[in-house]
Formats: sequence, structure tokens, C-alpha cells
Amino acid sequence: MNMHAVSEAAPAFPIPDNVFAEKVVAVEHFTDHLFRFRITRPASFRFRSGEFIMIGLPNAEKPVYRAYSIASPSWDEEIEFFSIKVPDGPLTEHLQKIKLGDTVLMRKKPTGTLVLDALVPGKRLYLFSTGTGVAPFASLVRDPETYEKFEEVVLIQTCRQVDELTYITRLVEDLANDPLVGEMVEGRLKLFTSTTRQTFPRMGRITDLMGDGRFFDMTGLPAISPEIDRAMICGSMAMIKDTSAMMEGFGLVEGANNKPATFVVERAFVG
Ligand code: A2P
Repeated sequence: MNMHAVSEAAPAFPIPDNVFAEKVVAVEHFTDHLFRFRITRPASFRFRSGEFIMIGLPNAEKPVYRAYSIASPSWDEEIEFFSIKVPDGPLTEHLQKIKLGDTVLMRKKPTGTLVLDALVPGKRLYLFSTGTGVAPFASLVRDPETYEKFEEVVLIQTCRQVDELTYITRLVEDLANDPLVGEMVEGRLKLFTSTTRQTFPRMGRITDLMGDGRFFDMTGLPAISPEIDRAMICGSMAMIKDTSAMMEGFGLVEGANNKPATFVVERAFVG
């Protein structure tokens, strides 16, 4: 009997019964520290685009769980995640090695503030992200409801290096041919990417680029206004703080699920 077959047939640890145990159906590595993967979707699992969920692996008696934004839209038959690879990260050191057919554990209750319901109606939706903070927005830009609620969507990702932008750049390019939202995104979804540590046509943190007006010059977009614009923010604690302060400077007010307003942030991943 070969070792590989044995380990696949009989996990070393039993699957806890309060979680979904799903199979990996796709894995794609973008850089040494970024990858995406897709798992099967349990028939009973419902979530709102932009929410996150706890995931883990069945490789210990007590699996380690981490909050992951769901990167696929709520209508998708599979669930997608976009992840960093931390060399000694309790979960990602193992997660980065997953292969087709492996099992991923997913807790049953999704949650989060980056949902359309947490914003009052507006015309233009700004989605601000750095690094893997783009994941919930990969969900929202693929959801028809986003385009039913907003006339225009501006998706922003700043990363250190150019190749970290590949995931969202390709996703947005492919969206033009998507049978469900392809026509809706035409002329209405704008992607603005920038880097901070490698040469690229657009360089600088989004806060700096907006602060001195370069963003508005480059895109032709008007200054952000509380009458028209709504925003969602996902990134590191420092990025959230600075981008929120900038939104408040434009007159936007932070909201939540139980108190919709003009911008929302996700603090789940940054302690
Ligand atoms: P920078 O290279 O100038 O630090 P990190 O991996 O540290 O989370 O950073 C991801 C990206 O977010 C980097 O391009 C980084 O720029 C940028 N960034 C870090 N802090 C902030 C902040 N407070 N506001 C806006 N962008 C930020």
C-alpha cells in the first residue's frame, strides 16, 4: 500500500462535527507569498458577498482557525479564498501546501461589515484595499447586486510589489466576459492599482495619492462627496485608520450592519 493513498483515505484526526468539511477544487499560486484556492460549497451554506468565515485544516486534534474573507460572490457554486503564505504561520504554513482533493474545514457562520446592507444608498462605491484586503472586494465586484445598487464601482488595491496585483487585475479582466455580470461591469467598474516598493506606472499609497490629488487627476474622478460616494475599507490596522480618517475628512460617516452609513471597515483580521 502506498503512503500517499493511506494519508488521503484516513485523515490523522477526526473531522469535528460543528464544521463543514469541504474538498479543494482549485489552487493557484501567484507569488512566493500569495495564492488562491477554491473549495466545494455546502448546499446549506449562505453568506452575503463581502463577509468572512473561519477556516482551518483537519491536521490536529484542535484545528487552528483563522478569519478569511470569502472572495467568491454569494451566487457562486464554489467558495474562493485569497491567502498569504506565512512561513511559520500556524495555519498558512500548512494551508499553502493544499492540493486538489484535500479537506478544508469551514465554520458554519459567516459575518462581517463589508456588506452592501451596511451602506446607505449612493451612486459611486469605492472599495479600498491593500494586500489580501482585496479578497472581500473580489466577492463584491462579482455580485450583480453591487451594480443594481451603484452606478459606478471604483476598486483600489495598493501592494508593495507589482506581482501582488495579478490576482485582482486578472479577475477584473476576466469579468468582462462573465455571463452574469459582464454587461453590468462595462464602463462601470474601474480598477485602480498602485505599488509602493517596485516601479509601476502608478506609485504610492492610496492615502497619499488621494491626499495630494494625484488620484483624481489620474482617474478624472471628482473629489469624494457624502452625497454621492460610499466606501468600504479593508487592509492593515494602519491602513484602515488612515483611510477612515481620509473618508471622514471628505464628510463620510462610519456605519455598521445595525447602523448603515456612508462608509464601512473590516477590523476582523487585524486584531
Ligand atoms: P508601504 O510600502 O509604503 O508601507 P503591508 O504589507 O505592510 O500591509 O503593506 C501593504 C501595502 O499597503 C503596501 O503597499 C503599503 O505601503 C501599504 N500601506 C501600509 N500602511 C498603509 C497606510 N497606513 N495607509 C495606506 N497604505 C498603507
